Amino acid sequence: MTNSLLSQLSHTVGQAFAAIGLDPAFGKTFTSQRRDLGQFQCNGALAAAKQAGRNPREIGAEAIAELEKTGLFADLTLAGPGFINLKLSDDFLTGHISDIAADAWFGARSGHTPQKVILDYGGPNVAKAMHVGHLRATIIGESLRRLRLFLGDEVISDVHFGDWGLPMGLLIKEIERRQPDLPYFDKDYTGPYPAASPVTVEELQELYPAASSRSKEDPAFLEAARSATFELQQGRAGYRALWQHMRDVSIEETRTDFDLLGAHFTEWKGEADTNEHIPLMLARLKEAGYSEISDGAVVVRVSEESDKKEMPPLILEKSDGAVMYGTTDLATIEMRSMEHEPDSILYVVDARQSLHFEQVFRAARKCHSLKPECHLEHIGFGTVNGKDGKPLKTRDGGVVRLRSLIEDAIGEARKVVKETAGMSERFDADELADISTKVGIAAIKYADLSNQRMSNYIFDLERFTKFEGRTGPYQMYAAVRIKSMLRKAAEQGLTEGRLLAGMEAERNLMLALASLPEAIAVAAEKNAPNILCDHVYALSQEFNAFYHECPVLGEAEADIRASRLRLCAITLRQMEQVLGILGIDVPERM
Ligand code: ARG
Repeated sequence: MTNSLLSQLSHTVGQAFAAIGLDPAFGKTFTSQRRDLGQFQCNGALAAAKQAGRNPREIGAEAIAELEKTGLFADLTLAGPGFINLKLSDDFLTGHISDIAADAWFGARSGHTPQKVILDYGGPNVAKAMHVGHLRATIIGESLRRLRLFLGDEVISDVHFGDWGLPMGLLIKEIERRQPDLPYFDKDYTGPYPAASPVTVEELQELYPAASSRSKEDPAFLEAARSATFELQQGRAGYRALWQHMRDVSIEETRTDFDLLGAHFTEWKGEADTNEHIPLMLARLKEAGYSEISDGAVVVRVSEESDKKEMPPLILEKSDGAVMYGTTDLATIEMRSMEHEPDSILYVVDARQSLHFEQVFRAARKCHSLKPECHLEHIGFGTVNGKDGKPLKTRDGGVVRLRSLIEDAIGEARKVVKETAGMSERFDADELADISTKVGIAAIKYADLSNQRMSNYIFDLERFTKFEGRTGPYQMYAAVRIKSMLRKAAEQGLTEGRLLAGMEAERNLMLALASLPEAIAVAAEKNAPNILCDHVYALSQEFNAFYHECPVLGEAEADIRASRLRLCAITLRQMEQVLGILGIDVPERM
């Protein structure tokens, strides 16, 4: 496997330190912030000098003398108190780019130990249309899934459907109120139940808010819904049959949203899948003394002495016997851990649920619900705000449906595409529609992912869909331009050849390509797709500078032209791969 350029350099510089009797760890090398001084920099001479009680410039000079012997560098200079600035020889640089280009992952997998990861994201709920809050959960979660696959991890992605709990009882009772003659409510009826759902997803989306507000005004209705929830959880046949219909039509609806956003789940499980495990779990926790009774409810205490803020106990079973969000989440951890033995379970869920996850994770540790090495992490994110800086709402103050957000983005993209010179003339209606869809999706994904995960951002489609700057459409366009250039080259019968580096812009582009492994590693470690947005942006900037200064198709010298074609092809491949991790598809032309 090819090592990253930085790790190779750190190794080489480390060998130079070792040759003069010092610890090779001092050879750690970084990308230089000052390109004018060198491409890379090593500050190890300073720490080495401190340790050896010697002069840092002297050590730096000795290390440089060793490095000169390798023949790998075009320039080595000593700066300030003892910084070593390095510039690679063109042979070393082009050789490295050829190496990583021969690797399907550009060297990003070296040094990574494959893991088994469960990613929990998306998180839609029965009867509720996915809303703006699920946008980030889906986009970020899917990009982390693709990032992990790129690294070679085994990924199980689970949508964790919200399908258990009081909302189910409210729905059952509201449907009963409206259609009391349906067989689902008759306790003596023994089946079979109708195959078709008595409610459509549109009806459910009206039923749920109606039931929810009724429960606030009518205590008897709320009580009935509570006991219906309990009976459902206990397995009352009619309720189960009705619930199954509600779940099925709701899932079907979310599939459309997930398809539009390119999200892939390997499991379509939900809270309800824990139902059989819950009594076993409750019995075990009681037996072991992990749980206790408090005000008639079964709870697990999770506060610790060092807590700065209040940490309420996790409630597992209320006094009426109903189980809670925390119960199903704890049971889900136990089931996942038994079924998959994962190395980590990651939850991509709104940052406002952080207390919930803290309670669940602590309870899971305390109750030995999983093996201690298994890593649990809540990957939170900030809110999507309107232009007024407050969480995005519809004009009349309602929740914004995910579908309408996506449709608006595609609509805005269609407008931009139409206004872009030449587009409408060059493509037929089908291709224009396909391009607009890709542009619209790219716009919302890049805008979402390029922000620091935890910060809020303002949803501004006009800005997101621009074909310039840090936008999805611009990154996509940069890749399409390379595609069409390579197509032209093929038509002219031009072929790629050995990489050469004669111009500074070529070297800079190669350095950008070589920095992918670090970007991937940091993005994965911090669960931060924004690092990859930055990488692909920097790559397209370097490509622009290269394209501006170095003719490709118009280059008269055949070797140079062939090398540049190769460089373009490598750049395109890396851009498409990184955009692919961000969930952005690049059209053939635009
Ligand atoms: N259904 C939840 C919601 O809409 C999100 C579920 C997140 N995953 C989990 N394991 N709790 O808020």
